[in-house]
Formats: sequence, C-alpha cells, structure tokens
Amino acid sequence: MHKSIIIANWKLNPGTASEARLLFSAVKKGVAGIRNAEVVVCPPFVYLPALSEIRRAASLGAQDCFWEDKGAYTGEVSSSMLKEFGVTHVIVGHSERRNWLGETDEMIARKIKAVLKEKLTPVLCVGERERDSSGDIPAIVEEQICTALSGLKKGEFKNGIIAYEPVWAIGTGRPDTPDDAARAAIFIRKIVKKVLGKTAGEGVRIIYGGSVNAKNAASFISKDIRGMEGMLVGGASLKADEFVQIVKSISEI
Ligand code: PGA
Repeated sequence: MHKSIIIANWKLNPGTASEARLLFSAVKKGVAGIRNAEVVVCPPFVYLPALSEIRRAASLGAQDCFWEDKGAYTGEVSSSMLKEFGVTHVIVGHSERRNWLGETDEMIARKIKAVLKEKLTPVLCVGERERDSSGDIPAIVEEQICTALSGLKKGEFKNGIIAYEPVWAIGTGRPDTPDDAARAAIFIRKIVKKVLGKTAGEGVRIIYGGSVNAKNAASFISKDIRGMEGMLVGGASLKADEFVQIVKSISEI
C-alpha cells in the first residue's frame, strides 16, 4: 500500500504572512512524529519564501504555476521559480481556477508538462459540477483527465497525483460518500492506464477532496481496495488542530 498523502490547500488564506508562519509552524509541530503519512502544505505564492525556511516534517506545494519558464507573462509564476523555494508539489486545474479564471483542460495540460519538466509532482484536480442522476462517474471527468494528460509519454505521470474533487462537494459541507469516492478512484486509475499505460496507471496516486474534516477523513481511505490514498483539504486545513487530527486519523489506518 502507498503511503497516504494529505495536502492542505490554503487557497487565498490566511491574510498575513505572520498568520501563515503561525499556522505552518503549528501544523509542522503537530505532524512531526507521524511517519506513515506524507503532508504537503500549499500556501499562496507570496508566503513560500518564508515557509521554505522553516519547512521540515511538512513539504511545500504551490496552488498553480504557469507553463513557460520566464518571459513576457505578466503576473505569472513558473515551476522552475517554485522549485527554487523548495516546492515539491504543484496543484494544477483546481475547479476554482477553472470556474473563476477560465482555465481550460488545454492550459492545464501545458502546466502539467511544465511541472513534470522540473521533476515536481503535479496534483491534477478533476471533478464534475453536478452528480449524474444515474450515479455514474460523469463523462466530463474522463474528458478532463484525457485532455490534461494528452501529449505525455507512456509511463509519464507515474509519480503524479489526481485529486477527485466533485465541485458540488467543495466548501459545501456535503462530501461525497466514501463508496462513491472509492468507485471514482477505481474509474480514474482505469483511465490513466488507458491513456498512459500500466506503469503510470499503477503509480499514480488518487486522492479525494471536498468538505473533508477530522470526522470524515478516515472513512475515505480503505485498506482492502486500492481506492483513495489521501486527501486534498481546503477549509479544514486552516485550523491547525483539525488538520493535524485529519493527518493522525489517516496515519492510523
Ligand atoms: P474544502 O475544499 O475542503 O474546503 O471543501 C477542498 C478544495 O477545494 O481543495
């Protein structure tokens, strides 16, 4: 079984650098002795340099990146710049970027290539806006994955992560059911195998995001099947105690 991975997505929070330091230090302290779960914290870009100096026990991730290394692209940040500050993971294609900033699957595909080029771990977010009444995993999820991974070589993305985040479950307090999330994980792994072959399909880690909290986190991880292998946590990652609780509950499985 792969080590579970728990990724904190702070989004546009907290409001100041000193709050970011405090939150990061509390998380770091809380997860320090935990060996069988990996923890990644994704703060806003501007906090990365300060947190990079105090990291350990938790890794650093970014919430986005641009696909070019440098040049005339106002406001953008490249994966090579992130790497210099010790970033190891980059979230790509979060639904909030797709919805608010018009990010397309084609743009996401370019970003994934840029992340892999720097040998960082991409965390590709996919998920439907509404649950299909048939209960099936909607075709849009397959389309998102196929386009985002297009142009990669067989076996590439074998160390990548796909976060299944149904949009209707994000920040609503209405998480997916563990059974449906497990079915989504199996479905997503099949698609990756189809697109990039067996090595990538077996290597990729699939995690769940959407209203995860300290009470429900462990229910998404199963020992018996290769289902969800971690979490992407938004709101609950802003409370150090609750986030540490999530990591502990998963590390005890
Ligand atoms: P949430 O957000 O945990 O607040 O639902 C998850 C995410 O958007 O990554």
